[in-house]
Parts: sequence; structure tokens; C-alpha cells
Amino acid sequence: MARLEVIEGDITRLDVDAIVNAANESLLGGGGVDGAIHRAAGPELLAECRTLHGCPTGEARITKGYRLKARHVIHTVGPVWHGGKTGEPELLARCYRNSLALAEQHGLKTIAFPAISTGVYGYPKEPATEIAVREVRAHAKVDHVIFCCFDKATADLYRAVTARSASPS
Ligand code: AR6
Repeated sequence: MARLEVIEGDITRLDVDAIVNAANESLLGGGGVDGAIHRAAGPELLAECRTLHGCPTGEARITKGYRLKARHVIHTVGPVWHGGKTGEPELLARCYRNSLALAEQHGLKTIAFPAISTGVYGYPKEPATEIAVREVRAHAKVDHVIFCCFDKATADLYRAVTARSASPS
């Protein structure tokens, strides 16, 4: 089973096989973690993303990491929160599953996720964290999964949810 770790920090700094980008369907960059990853990776990342012709919500695509320490970027597109009745939970779960499947197909051992959809896309943090932890526990074949949280409140939430789901019920 994959080792899960929660850290607080900037995902663009991590020395892992892949960092996951919370992208949009164009894959051509944006704000938040997407903007930070493109700035840190350099223009070669955007050039490779242009060749992918976008990515539907819930799916994932892999590129090289260019100037990042991370060897790859796995771009996934989380759902925009519209109140939870338009398939958001399943679409968010697919982001984690499809990202992990790509990591496995490419023989990657370490992967770091941001809190997909919980920024600009407005997904409430607690249910999003529960989905992230549940999907990673169920599907990660890699050795090590890092949940990289940008602030302490998010890291505390991830720690609480991972502790809760690790205890026998
Ligand atoms: N490292 C780790 N986490 C980060 C970083 C960072 N450097 N920067 C932000 N976060 P968001 P979304 C956290 O808005 O909700 C973009 O414009 C942030 O605090 O980046 O999936 C895309 O192009 C939050 O917890 O992604 C899309 O249009 C989490 O990352 C749209 O935003 C996700 O916030 C995607 O929205």
C-alpha cells in the first residue's frame, strides 16, 4: 500500500516523479496552482500542453516537468462546484483515479497532489478531502503519495481525514 504524507507548502518545489496540476480543460494555464506550475516549469511546458488539445473534466494527461524538480506533471481537470448535484463527486474522484493510473502506467513511484477543485473551482474542502484520501487509499499503486497543502488549515484538514480513515471502523 502507498505511504501517504501530508505536507504544507508549494507543490512546485517538490522533488518527486510527478506533481499533479489542477488545470482547466484548455490545459493552457491559468491562476492558482496551475499558474504557479507553469511559471516554475517554464514556457516549454505550455508548448507541450498545446500539443495535447485540452482535457475533459475528470480526465488526466501527462507531460514532462521541464524546469521543475519533478520529472513529470500530471494535468487533471477538476469539476467546478455547482452545488454537488451535477456529478461533482464522481468527477473529482475520477481526477484522482486517472492521475494515479497514469502514474502507474509510466512506472512512477512518487506523486504529489494539490487540493484539486478547492480553490477557484469552489469545491467545499472537507468533502473534497474525503474523496482525495478515499481514492488514493483505494487506487494508489505507487510507493509514496504526498498531499501538498498550500496553507495550514488545509494541511490540518488532510491530517484529520487521513487519521480518521486509517482507524478501524
Ligand atoms: N502549491 C500547492 N497548492 C497550491 C499552490 C501551490 N503552489 N497554489 C495554490 N494551491 P486552484 P482549482 C492550492 O484554484 O480550484 C486555475 O486557474 C489552493 O490553495 O489552483 O482546481 C486553473 O487554470 C487550493 O487549495 O485550482 C483552473 O481554471 C488548490 O491549490 C482553475 O484554477 C486548488 O486551487 C482550477 O481551479
